[in-house]
Amino acid sequence: MHVLQSLILGIPAVIAGSPILVERAPTSPFALFAYGDGIGGAPVFTDGDGAYIGQVTSLNDSEAAQVEFNAGTDNTLLANPNTTTTGNTPTWSNLTFIVPDTTSSSHKVEFTNSTTTGDRSGTGFVFYGEFLLHKSTDGDLKAMWYAVPSGQDNVWTLNWNSTDDDTEGKVIVTLKATPPSRGADKNP
Ligand SMILES: *[C@@H]1O[C@H](CO)[C@@H](O)[C@H](O)[C@H]1NC(C)=O
Ligand SMILES: *[C@@H]1O[C@H](CO)[C@@H](O)[C@H](O)[C@H]1NC(C)=O
Ligand SMILES: *[C@@H]1O[C@H](CO)[C@@H](O)[C@H](O)[C@H]1NC(C)=O
Ligand SMILES: *[C@@H]1O[C@H](CO)[C@@H](O)[C@H](O)[C@H]1NC(C)=O
Ligand SMILES: *[C@@H]1O[C@H](CO)[C@@H](O)[C@H](O)[C@H]1NC(C)=O
Repeated sequence: MHVLQSLILGIPAVIAGSPILVERAPTSPFALFAYGDGIGGAPVFTDGDGAYIGQVTSLNDSEAAQVEFNAGTDNTLLANPNTTTTGNTPTWSNLTFIVPDTTSSSHKVEFTNSTTTGDRSGTGFVFYGEFLLHKSTDGDLKAMWYAVPSGQDNVWTLNWNSTDDDTEGKVIVTLKATPPSRGADKNP
């Protein structure tokens, strides 16, 4: 299946030896939004550690804020709090966005202030059109984002690689730098 079609349908996509055109992230700070079945453009946020999507205020955590991403060297994504929606002033800043690498059995997407990422990868985030992909060390481009209900209303944890994850209610999502269009269903 063509990668774009896979992404639109929300099917985790793997592009081997990709000759396709990918782009660096936007040069100015940007937010990321998740789209999937029942998820119509939920912003990515963090408490300074875990990655979440949905309504930041529902987490009821003074460290929680929507993320303002900046592209760094080696296609890293650096995170700072966008305090507009909550008025919180979190203590974290300039965190690195990381996903589990191909050798990891973890599903957690996280934000870290450490320079050593272990079996996680903080480099190789590129866009294919509007879609955020990750290029692994073996050179494959992948989009394996999915969301799992967090237990809080309107909040999901943002995960990576749903293989072997049987969690009920998981939803395959795509991540885009484009907010939901005005007038569209913004739920949640
Ligand atoms: C910060 O949040 C506000 C309110 O949600 C939004 O309008 C703005 O685009 C965000 N800025 C970035 C860089 O994400
Ligand atoms: C939010 O946190 C405060 C302080 O910890 C607590 O009193 C309140 O009940 C919490 N609200 C919700 C909806 O969890
Ligand atoms: C942010 O983090 C990156 C990567 O860890 C580092 O290279 C950069 O100097 C940091 N920027 C600031 C303003 O601390
Ligand atoms: C996805 O997870 C499975 C099971 O943990 C692992 O074997 C596989 O290498 C992972 N795939 C990628 C592309 O990370
Ligand atoms: C990184 O985060 C940990 C845990 O939140 C904190 O203890 C540590 O001081 C932080 N390090 C830096 C360099 O900010």
